[in-house]
Amino acid sequence: MAEVNTLEEKLAEVLGLAQAAQGATKKIEALVDDDEIKERLREMRQEAEETERRCTEAASARDGKKTAVLEKARETKAEAEEMMRTYLGDDADGLDGFEFLIMAEAGEASHWEVLGKINENGGEEGIHQLVSWAVPIQERHFRTARECALELAADEDPYEE
Ligand SMILES: [Fe+2]
Repeated sequence: MAEVNTLEEKLAEVLGLAQAAQGATKKIEALVDDDEIKERLREMRQEAEETERRCTEAASARDGKKTAVLEKARETKAEAEEMMRTYLGDDADGLDGFEFLIMAEAGEASHWEVLGKINENGGEEGIHQLVSWAVPIQERHFRTARECALELAADEDPYEE
């Protein structure tokens, strides 16, 4: 298989994270009852799907490297899923779910910034456009995860055992 360069490796990572985010939002949606919070998770999932679509398109535009990028993305996705399994055991509740999502979304937002920074030395317009589109969305995902966690925390009984 073709070797990926640094830029393609980072593109693969954000793609894998967008794929993993779809599973994470689905899993956490099942852990919460609040309809408004469920709706925010569904919105995040739709944006993760669109992110996956755009990243795949960017991978397709790379001469003969699409398969290699997708393969690398699968590795990242598997690693992220493994982290989620470790963090969210059978007794996980909605608040646990959002605590995990805070980490995942902060990581995702930062990965996008890294891709953008690396591309400054590459100057690829397509990647620049993609990063400019994705960074504000990922920052919002992080804020949403944090807000939802605090909302759920506000309803917790501090002395429940
Ligand atoms: Fe996200």
